[in-house]
Amino acid sequence: MKPIIIIVGARPNFMKMAPIYDYLKSKNLPLILVHTGQHYDDNMSKVFFDDLGMPKPDIYLGVGSGSHAKQTAQIMIDFEEICEENKPSMVIVAGDVNSTIACALVSSKMNIPVAHVEAGLRSFDMKMPEEINRVLTDRISNLLFTPSLDANQNLKNEGVNEKSIKLVGNIMIDSLLNNIERAKKRNIHNELNIMKGNYATITLHRPSNVDDENVLSDIIKAFETIGNEISLIFPAHPRTTHMISKFGLENRINQIPNLQVIKPQGYLDFLALIKYSKVVFTDSGGLQEETTALRIPCITIRENTERPITVTEGTNTIVGSKAENIIKEWNNISRNKGKKGKVPKLWDGKTAERIGIDIIEYLEKH
Ligand code: UD1
Repeated sequence: MKPIIIIVGARPNFMKMAPIYDYLKSKNLPLILVHTGQHYDDNMSKVFFDDLGMPKPDIYLGVGSGSHAKQTAQIMIDFEEICEENKPSMVIVAGDVNSTIACALVSSKMNIPVAHVEAGLRSFDMKMPEEINRVLTDRISNLLFTPSLDANQNLKNEGVNEKSIKLVGNIMIDSLLNNIERAKKRNIHNELNIMKGNYATITLHRPSNVDDENVLSDIIKAFETIGNEISLIFPAHPRTTHMISKFGLENRINQIPNLQVIKPQGYLDFLALIKYSKVVFTDSGGLQEETTALRIPCITIRENTERPITVTEGTNTIVGSKAENIIKEWNNISRNKGKKGKVPKLWDGKTAERIGIDIIEYLEKH
């Protein structure tokens, strides 16, 4: 039987693929786990394998960082060889990172069926590299696994064949539910000397926020105010650390009262931080979903979201990147506790099973 190749590359891929890997393995399907090496630092990659109990990748491409063209092209060159050697029956990709589009493009040109997990999300902002990756990956995928109905509608609007769209729910929530009890037992709150329920977690890494000095400086201004009112925990992404140093903003960051900048956290410690946050400030996509699932208020420092259900049903509020708007929403949440929200349909921890069943059926038919 020909193997199924599962692609991981960057931090948000690992928690999406772990439950799918486990489900397909439990059905004794031959699997090859390929890690492109888009993220390579231990705390951006290895710690997730350890925390999620994922096996070591069968193949590690080690492409590392680079411009979009270089990174995407290198993954394509290396992955084409892997496909030639292993002749997979299917390639499964997730999300919207460069590894996703690179491997989907190679597979589709070799007539290997592509399954895209987390299909159909749209920010309608083509300035985001991820939006380009999403639109193109969906266009060339054979199975499109969507997390919510809005994603189905986006795909239908783009003329995608309805038979290939499968509403399966949110895969991130499988990993979240599988691991939340272990996360609750972590010692991270003692280590950081913070009280559960009485601090805010910050993450920032979008190029539109951190690569522009004026935008980043204004976001920091917001935390210069908010830091007077609550402890702030800021696990800083390597891109952001680099930019803070490039723009000479370290002094301002260091002087923010009650702010702790810490290294990027592993899956369990990070989940523990989110679970007990009073509020989360972020520009991440996945975190908008995780906070909705955990019913923690989320202030999204972006102009738009590809995950509108987190706003319409969940705990998310989009405020943009201006200090005054970030502070305004913080004031609202600190006074009124923020949205309670509800957990969207099919965010129930059974998404990997639904995906697995559809994949097996597809492979039997083709
Ligand atoms: C990538 C994804 C983004 C995702 C994010 C999560 C794309 C286009 N972007 O953005 O969608 O939300 O991952 O983290 O695929 N670096 C390290 N160590 C690492 C990895 C990166 O130091 O292990 C540094 C390098 O300086 C690199 C920079 O971070 O140049 C950016 O990394 P890159 O993978 O290009 O993009 P991200 O910003 O991480």
